[in-house]
Amino acid sequence: MKITVVGTGYVGLVTGTCLAETGNEVICVDIDADKVAKMRNGIVPIYEPHLDVLFERNIKANRLRFTTSLAEGLAHGDIIFLALPTPEDEDGSADLRYVLDVSEEIGKMIKEYKVIVDKSTVPVGTADKVVEVISRHAICDFDVVSNPEFLREGFAVDDFLKPERIIVGSSSERATSLMKKLYAPFVRSGNPVIIMDERSAELTKYAANAFLATKITFMNEIANYCEKVGADVDQVRVGLGTDSRIGKRFLFPGIGYGGSCFPKDVKALKKAGADLQYDFKILDSVLKINSTQKTILIPKIEAYFNSDLANKKIAIWGLAFKPETDDIREAPSIDIINALLKRGANLTVFDPEAMPNIQKLFGDKLTYANSLYETTEDADALVICTEWSIFRTPNYQKLKQLLKNRVIFDGRNLYNLEDMESEGFTYFSIGRKQIN
Ligand SMILES: NC(=O)c1ccc[n+]([C@@H]2O[C@H](COP(=O)([O-])OP(=O)(O)OC[C@H]3O[C@@H](n4cnc5c(N)ncnc54)[C@H](O)[C@@H]3O)[C@@H](O)[C@H]2O)c1
Repeated sequence: MKITVVGTGYVGLVTGTCLAETGNEVICVDIDADKVAKMRNGIVPIYEPHLDVLFERNIKANRLRFTTSLAEGLAHGDIIFLALPTPEDEDGSADLRYVLDVSEEIGKMIKEYKVIVDKSTVPVGTADKVVEVISRHAICDFDVVSNPEFLREGFAVDDFLKPERIIVGSSSERATSLMKKLYAPFVRSGNPVIIMDERSAELTKYAANAFLATKITFMNEIANYCEKVGADVDQVRVGLGTDSRIGKRFLFPGIGYGGSCFPKDVKALKKAGADLQYDFKILDSVLKINSTQKTILIPKIEAYFNSDLANKKIAIWGLAFKPETDDIREAPSIDIINALLKRGANLTVFDPEAMPNIQKLFGDKLTYANSLYETTEDADALVICTEWSIFRTPNYQKLKQLLKNRVIFDGRNLYNLEDMESEGFTYFSIGRKQIN
């Protein structure tokens, strides 16, 4: 099939590449000329495991091309995916400008039947708006489908190639049958393509993200309470997660969720409710708790240094909002860095993939290390913000030699308490007892 993907970010580039991998001819359109130039030169502009191999293979096979021209993209594809940003607007709602502006252009340019597939995360009713905007100009038939994306950054290629389910929101049989044909290679093991109406598909995505954000936040509250009552959140987590009604995943406490999706999607759902006088109280709590959770280590750090952080050298491991990505959008590390800088600390940071992005944000306010150990040289403390695998089993001997003070503030509970005790670290984590 001939496919066009508009927007080549984490979702669009993975979608385009994986659809090319199953034999489709794909053109990806992006407004960012530098990005398109890079991709044309064979450079993957984001870090996403395994994407590079598929990217290269499909470019070589002439199944994957890139352009800045929407007209060229629209002339090519029978199915047009919109993988455009839907960032948070000033009032917390989803900003639909990108989706609606491109839709307007599509209306002006299409000359024959197309299926326009919305992959962006959008509020209920957006498919209707897209239909309305395209209809203003279109001289031919078209259908608009809502096909929310559930891939996780860090596992995006795997998630796209082997989805647990595919949601297709459509009231058109013609469009539905094209979507089923397109996705058939990805669901050969029997995972469902679930067809529903557009509004339900749009809400399914928000409901999924809001539920997962709530699950993480619930566990963070239990962790905070564990510290008050001397319970161990690791043990509670295992006990809780083995109840099959609850499940083991998304029960790891830490310094809050971040990323490009949960924060804005929870806010957008709350705002969409408020617009209809529906008060999503549970989401309100999730937002407030998560905001506090992101800097929950700061009072512990302050107390340890008797509120004097001026010129203390703090090492930070992990900047991305989660491991296996270079994405720092809404990352808790940003809140922690800002809070520590405000208190006069000198920060040396390290992340396996997110250093260029954090450098764009903080410039010369931070020192950028080349390795995890270089970060800790002469540091008064080590703070851990992201659970990258390489942080899980460090050489404790080396760490002890490098750190000026053997103190770790671990926002991701990477180490077991016995190890910290026997290695002689002072160790603060989330929802567990403090090791002195
Ligand atoms: N990142 C995720 O893990 C994820 C997962 C599921 C759903 N989503 C949703 O998918 C959508 C896209 O997310 P993302 O993370 O891929 O965004 P992103 O910011 O990484 O990428 C968006 C891309 O669109 C391009 N763009 C902007 N305006 C354009 C235009 N007029 N024409 C062509 N290209 C244009 C940008 O240059 C950028 O490359 C959002 O709605 C997001 O909520 C994201």
